[in-house]
Amino acid sequence: MDTLTYVYTHRQRFLDELSDFLRIPSISTQAAHKQDVRAAADWLRTHLSAAGFPYVEVMETPGHPIVYARWMAAGPDKPTVLIYGHYDVQPPDPLDEWRTPPFTPTLVGDDLFARGASDDKGQAFIHVKAAEAFKMTRGALPVNVKCIFEGEEEIGSPNLNPFIEAHQDLLAADIGLISDTHILGKDLPAIIYALRGLAYIEVTVIGPDHDVHSGLYGGAVNNPLNVLCRMIAQLQDAQGHVTIPGFYDSVRDLSPAERAELAKVPFDRAAWLKEAGVRSDWGEPAYTILERTTARPALDVNGIWGGYIEPGAKTVLPGRASAKISMRLVPDQEPQAITRLVEAYLQKIAPPTVQVEVKDLHGGEGAIVRRDSPAMQAAFRAYAATFGRDPIFIREGGSIPVVATFQKVLGIETILMGFGLPDDQLHAPNEKFHIPNFYKGIETVIRFMSGL
Ligand code: BES
Ligand code: ZN
Repeated sequence: MDTLTYVYTHRQRFLDELSDFLRIPSISTQAAHKQDVRAAADWLRTHLSAAGFPYVEVMETPGHPIVYARWMAAGPDKPTVLIYGHYDVQPPDPLDEWRTPPFTPTLVGDDLFARGASDDKGQAFIHVKAAEAFKMTRGALPVNVKCIFEGEEEIGSPNLNPFIEAHQDLLAADIGLISDTHILGKDLPAIIYALRGLAYIEVTVIGPDHDVHSGLYGGAVNNPLNVLCRMIAQLQDAQGHVTIPGFYDSVRDLSPAERAELAKVPFDRAAWLKEAGVRSDWGEPAYTILERTTARPALDVNGIWGGYIEPGAKTVLPGRASAKISMRLVPDQEPQAITRLVEAYLQKIAPPTVQVEVKDLHGGEGAIVRRDSPAMQAAFRAYAATFGRDPIFIREGGSIPVVATFQKVLGIETILMGFGLPDDQLHAPNEKFHIPNFYKGIETVIRFMSGL
């Protein structure tokens, strides 16, 4: 049987298996789900073995395990592809906004709804099924393949870089391959060539050593919540330009040629507003929405707390207040350097009436990948053949820090071969994967590997 026909013939089983995978609540950030994360790793191991990988191992890290698999039978004359994916997911909260339960995969029309459907279990599983299709129809893969699937991507991959550094031989390859991004539309294939980086901090402002009465002390005690808000307000202007000194020093400017190219990317402003759920866009006026979200840095408060937030009024002046702040970075902003810059600035603008603590939660570098490699051309042809239309090269605003690690530690470029859609609701309620893209993903990977 032809390899692509095999995929078509077994499509229902592939979908059922993906649904099993999605039933495991592998939420990496919650200690209560530690065993579920491991269960997802074990599930993957079983399916990698069943797909034909002769060597599969669940490898321990100080945190959640890494699933490693290898199939090198194509021989030394053929390239080795290193596939990366992640089997952990974000928490499903807020739960009451889900139309179907997050860990009960539900097919509505062509969309499979579940946490992790698109990010990244559905996309990671594409590679397992592509391998199976090769194995069952040709008995072998056309190239050598190594896989690492991690269980800590959604918490900033704290153990991945040390793992890669310690296992460079195990991971040695010619090209990286990741399906954890999206294309532009059902019939609009795209290849991502740049990702943003991330620096993520938690700031705590400490005032009185206990909560005090806002009537008795208000006006004479500097309220940490008020202070925190004033400090945050000094981090950017009303149009989103970050006002931390030095923040833009290492930002790689967009060349006029790249701006002209980005301007040609089909962009439906009305659809974008609808997807985002906003009436109007916002941000640096000198840049387009696409440039602002992919090629310019951004600073956002992700959460803020302190004081009384239950129903009703309580007249209290809280002893401390905190905020989580993320900074999306662009090449060549270095996450550690940016974190130090922000920390120093926060300390500098803090009034003497409070103490400020800054915690570095995690970070990751952005990346730009080569577009002129033979592997990129093979990816281009694979998308074009599967979707009946040439893919467009775009930048993306999300982060996949391992791309920079592959470049720096393993010396390899990565192909970002994603199959999600812009409205997949990643990290949000009602995440879904457009199932025709699951099958097209398997087809594209098969064509890519055959064409390398
Ligand atoms: N798959 C996403 C990143 C993504 C989504 C890139 C869409 C491009 C298009 C990934 O799983 C993710 O969410 N990454 C985190 C990384 C962080 C925790 C270091 C992110 O971007 O917030
Ligand atoms: Zn994610």
